[in-house]
Amino acid sequence: MTDKFTVGVLTSGGDAPGMNAAIRAVARAAQANNMNVLGVAHGFEGLINGEFKQMGARDVGGILQRGGTVLWTSRSKRFQEPGGQREAIRKMNEAGMDALIVIGGEGSMNGALALSKQGIKTIGIPASIDNDIYGTNIAIGTDTAMNTIMDAVDKLRDTASSHQRAFLIETMGRNSGYLAVMAGVICGAEIVLIPETPVVREEVAATVEDAYKRGKTHAIIINAEGSDISTPDLAQMIDEMDLGFKTRMTILGHIQRGGSPTAYDRLLASRMGVRAVEALAEGTHSVMTGLKGKGVDFVSLEEVVGNKRQVSMEYYHMVKTLAR
Ligand code: F6P
Repeated sequence: MTDKFTVGVLTSGGDAPGMNAAIRAVARAAQANNMNVLGVAHGFEGLINGEFKQMGARDVGGILQRGGTVLWTSRSKRFQEPGGQREAIRKMNEAGMDALIVIGGEGSMNGALALSKQGIKTIGIPASIDNDIYGTNIAIGTDTAMNTIMDAVDKLRDTASSHQRAFLIETMGRNSGYLAVMAGVICGAEIVLIPETPVVREEVAATVEDAYKRGKTHAIIINAEGSDISTPDLAQMIDEMDLGFKTRMTILGHIQRGGSPTAYDRLLASRMGVRAVEALAEGTHSVMTGLKGKGVDFVSLEEVVGNKRQVSMEYYHMVKTLAR
């Protein structure tokens, strides 16, 4: 125990590239503000179990460029129950933890809000490849995931063109079509299928056939994992309809979650980590750091949890405009 203000930091939910950069920023900004830091292992699960370790400036050396999270992560069912939260608060009190910084996605912000409602000074930092968190233009990890998708689709396009094939590529994103829509624009897809709009099978078929008739050497179709048609079903449908192109499919899967964070994600994570600590130093809490315009601002956790981030339909339509 120490007399210094002690802040805990944890990562929770699906890992996202740049989480380590955020952990490092929190640890070092805290030291600069004369605070003590306890790293919490395994997310909220570790909070319940009291898995805490001192995290000084040297302990976070060499992690800025690493994907994943050195604190490990979890999706804790126990923490969703009042009993789990009570146990976690007890462990925090025993360790003399005065505040907690939660780095994670939508579900993690729910957890942060639950603690904040019980009197714990809590700050959220949005990190998720899905970019489905309200209150920030972009979350940590999304840019890296988009670059990973772009690299994969570029490679798939090479082979698609060589064989005149239609490629169905499935992106992650849970209930959000953000990654699929953005991939559609930056990778030149014919069409994207997302959870936010019903999939019209006839439209997909017409788009593929039209691309063939216009002399295209390939057709790229991006299917978000949450859309209302599975990628294998879609592949079978296009094959059976005999639309000109032969079909292949690739489910990108967890490759989208790994890898060294891009320059953008390192910068965003560093800025948000520093701002989170500054918030505590200023006496602000129950907020999440959010990128608004060019600045990192604060948005109340209540607002974050109470709203749904919408996918830009402007980009969705842009895919169609550009697929000529
Ligand atoms: O939230 C990040 C995410 O990668 C989603 O895109 C995906 O639906 C989910 O996590 C996969 O979770 P898991 O790693 O538990 O399979």
